[in-house]
Amino acid sequence: MTEAACRAMIILGIETSCDETAAAVTRGREVLSSVVYSQVAAHRPYGGVVPEIASRHHLEHLPGVLEEALLASGLGWGELDAVAVTYGPGLATSLLIGLSAAKGLALRLARPIVAINHLEAHLYSAFLDPSAPGLESVCPALALIVSGGHTCLLRVEGLGKYRLLGWTRDDAAGEAFDKGAALLGLGYPGGPAIDRASAGGNAGAVAFPRGPRPDRRGPETGLGPLDFSFSGLKTSLLNYLKADPVSGRPERLADVAASYQEAIVDALARGVAAAVRRENLRAIVVSGGVSLNRRLRSRLAELAQALGCRLLLARPEYCADNAAMVAALAGAGGGRAGWNDADACPGLSLGEDALD
Ligand code: KG4
Ligand code: ZN
Repeated sequence: MTEAACRAMIILGIETSCDETAAAVTRGREVLSSVVYSQVAAHRPYGGVVPEIASRHHLEHLPGVLEEALLASGLGWGELDAVAVTYGPGLATSLLIGLSAAKGLALRLARPIVAINHLEAHLYSAFLDPSAPGLESVCPALALIVSGGHTCLLRVEGLGKYRLLGWTRDDAAGEAFDKGAALLGLGYPGGPAIDRASAGGNAGAVAFPRGPRPDRRGPETGLGPLDFSFSGLKTSLLNYLKADPVSGRPERLADVAASYQEAIVDALARGVAAAVRRENLRAIVVSGGVSLNRRLRSRLAELAQALGCRLLLARPEYCADNAAMVAALAGAGGGRAGWNDADACPGLSLGEDALD
């Protein structure tokens, strides 16, 4: 089905792939309701997501989140056309909770179930608003998905037609923010903390590495021209702080945080520029939790202008994990309809099957 033909479909979306328990109702690309129960407080003492805690919280909170999403949509259960649910990638035990709830509802309501790839849903989150252009209209486009678990560049030819151009070979960009913030004593989650701490800092104060050196890319290392690597950056921050601690020096902390953030943003921006030029693309579509970063947003805006590309950023409420992106993608005809695909697939990827 085309995007336009499905515009009126009313979909209930469920997202439990990591640590957000989310449900939403969409009608085409219009979000009627979107409820996200964030588990951040429960995971904060551990400095990262603990799978057992995440699944227990999904189990406890999903029923209430579902009811709230339906109530806020102003619709009744019987008005839903289908139930869409994330089936991967993500934490197996977290995915299972969402999938079980979706199957139960689909059976009870006698509606089809649509299995959604979490990465494709992130990509689609930039098109959620009916006032945004349709996905097909901006293709061929580059998608940058940057989150706590993923960092990748994809060539987008249309809905469901993606080719993976590059990805991180170690830490995701969000992970680099989170680990860097822990080293800087800024707490969890690290992305927003570094974003805030960088305000007023000098981004040129410390020359942190911008990904692997060009001579480390090639067949010997398996690192392609559009791949990312952030683990060296984290080690570099660790070594820097050993030699020059920032505790008790707020101004220096701002400089180091801004420099660290700049290194991540710079690596991402360089990858985007190289991909757009190589693939001759017309638009840059950016999504995922890290796309909330203010410096990244402004850098990409400058870059898009310089490259003559259209820039589409997910709205702030749809950057991090949410179920509106899951429901809307199903409403656009994306995902896999049917019970056979509604099984947890923790290692699911996107765009690894070539377009041709
Ligand atoms: O998309 P998301 O909610 O979860 C995954 O699917 O992984 O992204 C969460 C990530 C975390 O690593 C968090 O630190 C990062 O997004 N993040 C940010 C900002 N806000 C959230 N990173 C940089 N700057 C921000 N303002
Ligand atoms: Zn995500």
